[in-house]
Amino acid sequence: MSEPIHAVSGKSRQVRALHLDDLDAVLDIERQGYSHPWTPGVFRDCFHANYRTWALTEDKEVIGYAVVAYMVDEAHLLNLCVARRHHRSGGARYLLRHLIAQARQENMSRVLLEVRLSNEPAVTLYNSEGFEQIGIRPQYYPAVRGRESARVMALVIA
Ligand SMILES: CC(C)(COP(=O)(O)OP(=O)(O)OC[C@H]1O[C@@H](n2cnc3c(N)ncnc32)[C@H](O)[C@@H]1OP(=O)(O)O)[C@@H](O)C(=O)NCCC(=O)NCCS
Repeated sequence: MSEPIHAVSGKSRQVRALHLDDLDAVLDIERQGYSHPWTPGVFRDCFHANYRTWALTEDKEVIGYAVVAYMVDEAHLLNLCVARRHHRSGGARYLLRHLIAQARQENMSRVLLEVRLSNEPAVTLYNSEGFEQIGIRPQYYPAVRGRESARVMALVIA
């Protein structure tokens, strides 16, 4: 499925399905975004029937992506990342709204995610789209020193 085109500063943005061919571009963005990036193998394992993998493109170049796993009626957002040079231009919000709309269309009843306690940009984004914190997973993520806990956030979409 591809989204209607959305123009930002004269450039056209679109969300489409992510392909294995996009992996090099995705890994580059992933390494910019995270202290502990996913490996190529983790991404490859997401090209699976219960997963939805989305690419955000600008003039056909991949500038962000999202990975969602469908489990029964729950869409679990596993990864959402935008290339650093495109931050604060509405890319993540656009991608997030797309994956929520798609999950709703596929009869999911809520979107669930984990986010590092320190990840203020992402928490601000999720709060602004209506997500609420429903719990904490202690020591969930590897960190530069030790481990870091995660907020569990959810959005009811049924
Ligand atoms: C979090 C992330 C995806 C946001 O991407 P983005 O494309 O810059 O976000 P958007 O431009 O769509 O911003 C949407 C809203 O998020 C919030 N936001 C984004 N960056 C922010 C920042 N640095 N500080 C505070 N709020 C921020 C704001 O509410 C913003 O709306 P506004 O610009 O109208 O104020 C991006 O910073 C990123 O890729 N980070 C690394 C990967 C990551 O942490 N992913 C989330 C894992 S759970």
